[in-house]
Parts: sequence; structure tokens; C-alpha cells
Amino acid sequence: MLTLGILGSGSGSNMQAIQDAIASGKLRARIALVLSDNPDAFILERAQMQDIPVDVIDCAPHRTRFPESVQEETAKKLKRAGVDLVCLAGFLRLVKAPLLEEFHTRIINIHPSLLPAFPGLESWKQAVDAGVPETGVTVHLVDSGMDTGPIISQEVVPIFPHDDAATLHARIQVVEHQLYPEAISQYAQKLGF
Ligand code: GRF
Repeated sequence: MLTLGILGSGSGSNMQAIQDAIASGKLRARIALVLSDNPDAFILERAQMQDIPVDVIDCAPHRTRFPESVQEETAKKLKRAGVDLVCLAGFLRLVKAPLLEEFHTRIINIHPSLLPAFPGLESWKQAVDAGVPETGVTVHLVDSGMDTGPIISQEVVPIFPHDDAATLHARIQVVEHQLYPEAISQYAQKLGF
């Protein structure tokens, strides 16, 4: 069965959506390991409440970097857990070699915009500030760029005149929670699972 490893830095609502899709039989997979670079992130608590093994990626003292040695260690942890596909879900550090090489074409990410528009942080705010009529959600393969890499799946989210960053973000997250498990399933089939 498809074995997932999830990396996140925040609340973990996408991890929860993946776990819910598994529990309801919509996604044939299991989450073997949840890792966070933030020991206080709610994603770790959520995972523990569901008996999913967790671990911390210790990048100290680096606030934003993901040092090579730590990436090597992370790759080892994921391999040891038997992970086939790594899902980034709100993970705030840039993944590079060696992790990318160890999991070549097997790291995917969810991003809250229609990439290539609005890469980087707070994309929902970028979209409101730009005054565009729509934005969306993208699931894509991870390469060494920031929010680049081949697109697996996208869905449009309209922006209404009364929207602010918070209301738009909430609507984007609803779409994310449906799209991510679907995209994982679709991509896993491509990989032969
Ligand atoms: C999501 O909006 C995701 O698209 C972005 O970070 C956020 C993570 O949210 N990359 P959560 O931790 O899954 O709730």
C-alpha cells in the first residue's frame, strides 16, 4: 500500500484532510510518519492524537535554512519508515538535494494559488492585493525552486468583492482539503501504486 510521509510547519489541516480521506476509504494509503521543523506545531499534536508516529526536524540554530546534514537525516527517517511519497503540507523550508535526490519525483507540495501566479508566502493575500478575480490551489511536484515544479492538479477559487485575506484563505483551505487527497491518489496511480 502507498506509504506517505508528511512534512509540515503549522496547523496540519491538510494532513488531517489526508488522514480523513484514508479513514473514509477515498484514499488507499497510510501515513507512516509526520515530521515538523517546529516542535510546537499543531500538526504534531494532531498526528499524535491519531497514533501517527511523529518526529521533529531539528534545524537549530537556522531559522529558515534546511541544512544539508539535516536533509540527509530526514531522508533516512523517511526511508526507515518505508515512505513512498513525501507530501509537503505547509512546510516552510526549501527542500533541496540531498532530500530531493533521495526521493526523486516523489515529493509533492500543495500551494494556495494557481501557480505560477503568486508563489511564496501568503499567496491568498497576494491575490487580494493584486485585485484578480480568481485564484486557486495547486498540487505540484517539488523541484529545487520555490513553488516551481511540474503541476499535478489545480482548482480555481473565485475571489468575491467582499473578500479579504482571511475569508479568501478560509475558502482556499476548503478546496485544498479536497484537492490534496485526490491529487495524491492520482499521482500515486501514475507511480504505479
Ligand atoms: C496551506 O494553505 C498550504 O497550501 C500552504 O500552507 C498551508 C498549510 O496549512 N502551503 P495546514 O498546516 O495544512 O493547515
